[in-house]
Amino acid sequence: KILILDFGSQVTQLIARRVREAHVFCEVHPCDVSEEWIRDYARDGNLKGIILSGSHASVYEETTDKAPQVIFELGLPVLGICYGMQAMAHQLGGLVQGGHKREFGHADVRAHGHTRLLEGIQDYATPEGYGMLQVWMSHGDKVTELPPGFKLMASTDSCPIAAMADEERRFYAVQFHPEVTHTKRGAAILERFVLEICETRADWIMGDYISEAVEKIRAQVGSEEVILGLSGGVDSSVAAALIHRAIGDQLTCVFVDHGLLRLNEGDMVMDMFVGKLHAKVIRVDAADQFLGHLAGVSDPEAKRKIIGREFVEVFKAEAAKLKGEGAKGAKWLAQGTIYPDVIESGGAKSKKAVTIKSHHNVGGLPEQLGLKLLEPLRELFKDEVRELGVALGLPYHMVYRHPFPGPGLGVRILGEVKKVYADLLRRADAIFIEELRNFIDPETGKSWYDLTSQAFTVFLPVKSVGVMGDGRTYDYVVALRAVQTSDFMTADWAELPYALLKKVSGRIINEVRGINRVTYDVSSKPPATIEWE
Ligand code: XMP
Repeated sequence: KILILDFGSQVTQLIARRVREAHVFCEVHPCDVSEEWIRDYARDGNLKGIILSGSHASVYEETTDKAPQVIFELGLPVLGICYGMQAMAHQLGGLVQGGHKREFGHADVRAHGHTRLLEGIQDYATPEGYGMLQVWMSHGDKVTELPPGFKLMASTDSCPIAAMADEERRFYAVQFHPEVTHTKRGAAILERFVLEICETRADWIMGDYISEAVEKIRAQVGSEEVILGLSGGVDSSVAAALIHRAIGDQLTCVFVDHGLLRLNEGDMVMDMFVGKLHAKVIRVDAADQFLGHLAGVSDPEAKRKIIGREFVEVFKAEAAKLKGEGAKGAKWLAQGTIYPDVIESGGAKSKKAVTIKSHHNVGGLPEQLGLKLLEPLRELFKDEVRELGVALGLPYHMVYRHPFPGPGLGVRILGEVKKVYADLLRRADAIFIEELRNFIDPETGKSWYDLTSQAFTVFLPVKSVGVMGDGRTYDYVVALRAVQTSDFMTADWAELPYALLKKVSGRIINEVRGINRVTYDVSSKPPATIEWE
């Protein structure tokens, strides 16, 4: 196994993910674990190498965290990335200087000499024959003097020591970020480190993840009952299937129809989970309750909080009912929280993460409910969750369904949520999704639904003027949103064919009385987010 020590970078889990992609088991732990903990962790001889992550990328915060010194005394390979490189340099007797101009973005790095880490890995060669790597940099401080025993491994004009190595001790460090896809050969570099330098075997697969997760869930839960809020989205569905695999009927799913679901969604979810998977699902119709509390509220965060709070109410009531029926009463609340939810809610292990949006499925629920929290997907990225779903035997169309946020149409109706808006949006959105499925791209043979990662319609509560027949209309506007992304942390807007956009806008305007204008959102994330609220 590989140990990743987290200094608080927002992309630490990407390192973990690359290691998993190399089919090697790894775990992320905070950088301030004790020396005894590390010795204990290494005791069984399975620990083959250590990776030090970057730190939270902010010019405003100086971090002074150190790696436990013992990691340099275990005789194991260590790879430092970004801040991890600086920590390594500092702790092994080199020099790190701050106050430099911040370097952020693409850079071309020149390799020096022959090192096991970079040998044969390059994007192109200079006319003089030097190997060049196209990488992603994000740092302010830099190493200005090599620690004893180290040699220069790579450099750029602005960062003369961009990578360093002590091959004797198998210590390697890079100032750039091999874990992000902008570093084109980054995965190859991490694979080289993990497989060849750490001498691990590439034999870990998603199937192992299931058995590990099933074991963990059983050990955690014992004979206690679990309730899970099933939204019909990919995350809660995969979580439900995984937990159902582990504990069967000890799991009760609560499917809340909050009146903010897509067209016919409720019936589809019941079909899938009760009809096909034979899971226990309670369907609660709480539309009036949710919409009542949302009346008059237009602030996005306030809306999210209300929806989250009402979920708590519904769960409390359901948990109480379960007790009433003579069952033991649920002790656990399971959620399909995935890694991007964790960092974007500021809940990553490092205390320095920034809150971007408060996702209702992370905040405060279990405390208020008096339930323990079970989150088996917490360390996974979206596409890994899908892979897990397939490995669990879930049907393709369900696992490759676009994700749908817990607050549902509540965050897709801008400002105040009203039932009439939700009804209009539901119909417009169903048309958009239907046409995405209908339109096949001739080059790939795939539908545009499969070619996009997430697509939906947003209701804009503004009116615009139009003509219909001989009459003037003054009706609402919707925006179509379709993005392509692999991890949902960054996303590009999808270049949908004009013919598709034309069909969709024509159908929406003709079929959904009350909407007379359709727009297409051409904003990428960042700086925009995928959802509009
Ligand atoms: P953003 O809009 O933050 O979305 O770029 C990233 C992904 O997260 C989903 N999302 C949510 N999921 N509760 C959820 O369960 C939420 O409050 C929430 N907000 C956004 C979004 O649909 C996208 O897949």
